[in-house]
Amino acid sequence: MGFSVEKTTISVIKADIGSLAGHHVVHPDTIAVATKVLAEAKSRGLIIDFYVTNVGDDLELIMTHRKGVDAPEIHELAWSAFKEAASVAKELGLYAAGQDLLSEAFSGNVRGLGPGVAEMEFAERPSEPVVVFMADKTEPGAFNLPVFRIFADPFNTAGLVIDPKLHEGFKFEVYDVFEGRSVILSAPEELYDILALIGTPGRYIIRRVFRKKDDEIAAVVSVERLNLMAGRYIGKDDPVAVIRAQSGFPALGEVLEPFSFPHLVAGWMRGSHHGPLMPVPQRYAKCTRFDGPPRLIGLGFQVKNGRLIGPADLFDDPAFDETRRLAQLIADYMRRHGPFMPHRLGPEEMEYTTLPSVLNKLKDRFTEVKGAIKAKGPKEKTEML
Ligand code: F6R
Ligand code: MG
Ligand code: MG
Repeated sequence: MGFSVEKTTISVIKADIGSLAGHHVVHPDTIAVATKVLAEAKSRGLIIDFYVTNVGDDLELIMTHRKGVDAPEIHELAWSAFKEAASVAKELGLYAAGQDLLSEAFSGNVRGLGPGVAEMEFAERPSEPVVVFMADKTEPGAFNLPVFRIFADPFNTAGLVIDPKLHEGFKFEVYDVFEGRSVILSAPEELYDILALIGTPGRYIIRRVFRKKDDEIAAVVSVERLNLMAGRYIGKDDPVAVIRAQSGFPALGEVLEPFSFPHLVAGWMRGSHHGPLMPVPQRYAKCTRFDGPPRLIGLGFQVKNGRLIGPADLFDDPAFDETRRLAQLIADYMRRHGPFMPHRLGPEEMEYTTLPSVLNKLKDRFTEVKGAIKAKGPKEKTEML
C-alpha cells in the first residue's frame, strides 16, 4: 500500500494594474500593497510562500500552496492583490491604472478576466529547482521557440541525447488561441507537426510540456490573450512561464540556453511591432526605448515543502551580455524600418490601427485600373484589416 505524497502548486499570476511614467515600470508602492495582501494570506495559511516582482509594467505574483491548479481561493487572492494595487495606482495617478482588470466582479477564476496565469502542481522531488520566466511587451507565443528548443532540440539540450532520463523525449500541449482548444503532440516523433503549428506563435502556443515516460509536468506557459478576450485591445498579453529543471528535466543551463538568441517576437510598441526579446536582470526590467525592447527576466527558485528558496536573478550574468548587445543591434535594425512590415506587424495582428478608417476615407478615390486582374478572395483580404 502506497501513501500519497502531498503535492505543491506553484501559481504565477500577473497583471498590468498601472505603471509609472507611461507603460514603463511598476511603481514600488503597488508592489508593497500586493506584498501586504499576500503576506496576510501566508500568515493565515492560505498560501505557503510568495514572491512579488515586476517586469516592465507588469505586476507578478509568484505563490506556492496546496490547493491545486485553478483553485478559486488562490485566484481570488490574486484578484484582491491586483484590486488593492490598482486602487493605489489610481490614487497615485499611475498610467493605465487597473487596465488588465476587465471585470468588476470576481467569479471564482481570474482566467478570462484579464490577468495571465501559469500554474503547475507536482510532488516535490528531494530537490526541486524551478525557473519562472516573465516577459513584457510581447505575447505568450514568444515562448514557443525557446520552450521547443529546451524540450525538443538536441542541439540545445544535450540531455535529450545523453541522459537516459530525458532520452524518450517530451509531449507538447499546443493551444489554438482562436478556437480555445488544444492538441497533445509527441517529440521527437511529431517534431515537424509541432513546428508546423508553433511557427505561428500568434495562434498556436505551447501551453504545457510533459515528460513522456511518466507524464510528469515539466513546463507551463500563460496563454491568455487580452485583446481577444475583450474583443478589442485593452492591454498586452505579456506572458509568464514556469519550467522545472535538473534530474530528469533539462539542466538549468539547458533551460536558459535558448534565450541566448534574442529572437524576434510580436508586441513591441502599441502591441503592433516585432522586436528582439532581450533577457535582462531584474534591475533592467523596465521598458524604455520605443516602449521596449521586449524584456524577459528569469528567476530561479528551489521549492522545498512549498517554500520558495531564492530567487536567483538568472540573466544577471555577463554570459548574456553579448545577447543583449545583439538584441540592441537587432532593435536598431528593426527600428530603421519605421512603419514598414516586418517591423510593424501584419494588419491582422496589430493592436492599434487606422487602416479601416483610412480605407473608408479613400474609398471614393480608388479607381479601377483598366485590364487589371483582381485577386481571388478580396473579401478575406479586406477582413484582414
Ligand atoms: C503597453 C504597450 C505600450 C502602449 C503605448 C501606447 O503595454 O505596449 O507600447 O501600447 O505606450 O499607449 P497609450 O495608447 O496608452 O498611450
Ligand atoms: Mg501596459
Ligand atoms: Mg506589460
